[in-house]
Amino acid sequence: MSFVSRRAASMPHSVFTTMDRAKARAREAGLDIIDLSIGSSDLPPPASVLDALCHAVPDTATHRYPMHSDTRELRSAAQGYFQGRFGVTLDVEREVLPLIGAQEGLAHLLLAVTDPGDTILLPDPGYPPYLGAARLASLDVHFLALREERDFLPDLGAIPEDVRRRAKVLLLNYPNNPTSATAPLPFFEDAARFCREHGLLLVHDHPYAEMTFGEYRAPSVLQVEGALDIAVELHSLSKSFHMGGFRVGFAAGNAQALAALARVKGAVDFHQYLGIQRAAAHALSLPPEVARAGAAVFQARRDALVQAMRAQGWEVQLPRASMYVWWELPPAAGQDSLEFAQQLAVQTGLVLAPGSAFGALGEGYVRFALVREPGALAGAVERLAAFLAKGVEGAS
Ligand SMILES: Cc1ncc(COP(=O)(O)O)c(C=O)c1O
Repeated sequence: MSFVSRRAASMPHSVFTTMDRAKARAREAGLDIIDLSIGSSDLPPPASVLDALCHAVPDTATHRYPMHSDTRELRSAAQGYFQGRFGVTLDVEREVLPLIGAQEGLAHLLLAVTDPGDTILLPDPGYPPYLGAARLASLDVHFLALREERDFLPDLGAIPEDVRRRAKVLLLNYPNNPTSATAPLPFFEDAARFCREHGLLLVHDHPYAEMTFGEYRAPSVLQVEGALDIAVELHSLSKSFHMGGFRVGFAAGNAQALAALARVKGAVDFHQYLGIQRAAAHALSLPPEVARAGAAVFQARRDALVQAMRAQGWEVQLPRASMYVWWELPPAAGQDSLEFAQQLAVQTGLVLAPGSAFGALGEGYVRFALVREPGALAGAVERLAAFLAKGVEGAS
């Protein structure tokens, strides 16, 4: 007898569970832990967002099941945000839908817009839940290589003809996790043209929209002319407003795809709690300087980490966005990023994400999440340098 479906059995094994065990061993050994493995913001949400939530909690109107009409406040705030930030006008009834986070949204969107056996184009390396979501929807996956020499942008022209014909969804994510690459609007224009020509839905996962540094502002796919015909973009409050645990975001874009998503979600959930929706609506209505202030904290951390790495003589890119630094391991680290990251954690207490967690092309890299203060990041580099100097056991 088995109570495990083939679907559940097909869910990818999480490398982060392995890393968690390595971290536990380091802790048991009494090591001080610097955990830079998970991209969960350590900053609090803006104080007025918490106030909005606190005000909502005693209001009994927020205690019932939220119906679609109850999501109007959040949809309107998302519409206002989109207009102000990207100059894109969305139909608040048809082109915006609240989500219980971008991750929930993607999994259900794939169930809503594809049929089993359809093909999806996924980035490699990419955010690990993409593969789980594709398997949940019983999709065939064709990976698009993100390589450093192409600035981690996929070569859409290199997709084989038969794959193009079969594919139903192209999934992109810029600013990118894990590479921290950004995409210029002309790349989105090419991607939109590709999707229109071949009948694909373009899904852009955009949780790092506000996690950008200096003068750089990440564009929206929906800024491309006619994009509402072929694209859906997933937004999240997790990074922009440090609300990862609140589980709230929204989808914007093609009305037909969003109507299908709403139907699928109708079988699964009743939307996020209304109090959290109100807090999210408040966050999206704040002046842009609020999100910029959070991003500036991450920018200072990026500077501290990259400066410390360069002081070691290591080559590393200065990211323009995201919460990550993606680093190609030096030869002294060996060939296996998971083995390297495990040993590093167990021996030094520094926990990084092994590149292989993000796909085959992530092998040979590690990802630093900028989730600690600059001093800790500089300390992390010192530990890493000492570890590399000592020589990694088993490294070739
Ligand atoms: C690329 C990407 N998409 C989605 C998410 C999850 O977003 P949410 O918290 O809105 O589900 C993350 C979180 O790290 C991410 O990096």
